Amino acid sequence: MTRIRSAEFQKKVVSADDAAAMIHDGDQIGFSGFTGSGYPKEFPGALARRVEEAKAKGEQLRVGLCTGASTAPECDGVLAATGGVSFRMPYQSDPHMRKAINDGVTDYCDIHLSHSGPVVRQGFLGPLNVAVVEVTAIAEDGSLVPSSSIGNNNVYLDCAERVILEVNEWQSEGLEGMHDVYYGTELPPNNVPIPITHAGQRIGQPTLRVDPNKVVAVIETDHEDRNTPFKELDEDSKTIGGLYVDFLLNEVKHGRMPKNLLPLQSGVGNIANAVLAGLLASDLEHLTSYTEVIQDGMVDLIDAGKIDVASATAFSLSPEAANKMNDNANFYKQHIILRPQEISNSPEVIRRMGVLSCNGMIEADIYGNINSTHVMGSRMQNGIGGSGDFTRNAYISAFVSPSTAKGGAISCIVPMVSHHDHTEHDVMVIVTEQGLADLRGLAPRKRAQVIIDKCAHPDFKPMLQEYVERAAKVANSAHTPHDLTQALSWHARMLATGTMKV
Ligand code: COA
Repeated sequence: MTRIRSAEFQKKVVSADDAAAMIHDGDQIGFSGFTGSGYPKEFPGALARRVEEAKAKGEQLRVGLCTGASTAPECDGVLAATGGVSFRMPYQSDPHMRKAINDGVTDYCDIHLSHSGPVVRQGFLGPLNVAVVEVTAIAEDGSLVPSSSIGNNNVYLDCAERVILEVNEWQSEGLEGMHDVYYGTELPPNNVPIPITHAGQRIGQPTLRVDPNKVVAVIETDHEDRNTPFKELDEDSKTIGGLYVDFLLNEVKHGRMPKNLLPLQSGVGNIANAVLAGLLASDLEHLTSYTEVIQDGMVDLIDAGKIDVASATAFSLSPEAANKMNDNANFYKQHIILRPQEISNSPEVIRRMGVLSCNGMIEADIYGNINSTHVMGSRMQNGIGGSGDFTRNAYISAFVSPSTAKGGAISCIVPMVSHHDHTEHDVMVIVTEQGLADLRGLAPRKRAQVIIDKCAHPDFKPMLQEYVERAAKVANSAHTPHDLTQALSWHARMLATGTMKV
């Protein structure tokens, strides 16, 4: 009970099963949780048991599940496995949830993370019935000390009709003071500029607010955050990281950015994490980061004294790094600020500060369009996450990926992306282990040649070159030449090889 410092909230402590009993069929629930951090640990399992009991009795209990971003097997996983999630928003990466979405069991609304809080506020998703939010502690005055992510918690706590809190003793008390919760956003026409001009600026308060009258249950837990460990850095990842860092150094050399660069954004996934390792190996120092998640590579840069301050909305740490964060939160909070995702991903702030974005991708086409989300055009992998928030507004926007997937069977450079997340107008740099394509200032036909020459794998270069030449003939050298019959059959031919399944 030491973490519940308000007598009023102590009276509301119940078991997770009792809290789950308060949920009705059709409830729209706003969960805390962002990339495996700060999600409720007890409540989702209890709700999953209730869904199974209802199914056994021939009754229906299905809910909508809104979060900050992906969570973990104990949240997305257990609930999706029951088939009890009717709606999901805005980003996920769980195998059960992915299956429920691709099987048509769960409707998935894959939107920009910066839009996800505002659409709830604006009422576009209907009423938010319940918020279930993990916190580190409840202060004497009833304010909430956030845990390892903030995500959309400020929005869900404000908008929900009823609130269930999970107080997690595993989260370090040292997190108190790391967060900066800004309550100045309004809906149009009353919105005003968000007053952030550098990554280390604090503009809000360290705690989340909640109306105590809405709090119907408080659950206690001491379960750890569960994140997937990153893959070991392989040679290709190291090469990609090195190419990107060389590119940034060249920008400095040409006077296009200061010696300590501009605020860095690093996306989710193994390759994006590998890019941070490239920065670690460089001579760069006094770096800053304005990003969405703090990954292991970011913590390494702080430890090495290379990053002065990193602003994000959540941790996305391996179990080892999460334990290190917990043991040393008092040190890290001098260098890390966690903010609501509508602020960490704010297009306005990203554009003003000149953020350098770097995100993973599924595939890029020869003109620089990017597919971040769909395998073979149809099958949802994770979601767009914050990649659009950053790419569209970055000072320099980059995408990184190995040049092939599935053991070399599939080219990640294709004639035409099978699903469109980021357009050629927003994408400036593409990096694979083969090389780096700088697309700035290039017209489509030049872009195609640079992308094939620099980024495509040698096994696929001849096919792509043949495509470009054929497209130029078929389209009479039009502005963006395509041979649609060939472009649209590219993925089908890959599927026909039997190496890929949708
Ligand atoms: N065709 C088919 N499958 C492909 C593929 C392609 N062109 N490219 C990748 N894949 C598959 C991989 O084989 C792998 O599948 P597996 O899990 O069955 O092995 C999976 O996609 C993930 O690929 P991986 O190489 O492990 O990449 P990653 O961990 O770097 O993640 C994304 C890449 C695109 C999935 C990830 O970056 C993402 O979800 N991005 C969208 C959201 C985002 O950018 N958020 C950050 C914003 S701040």
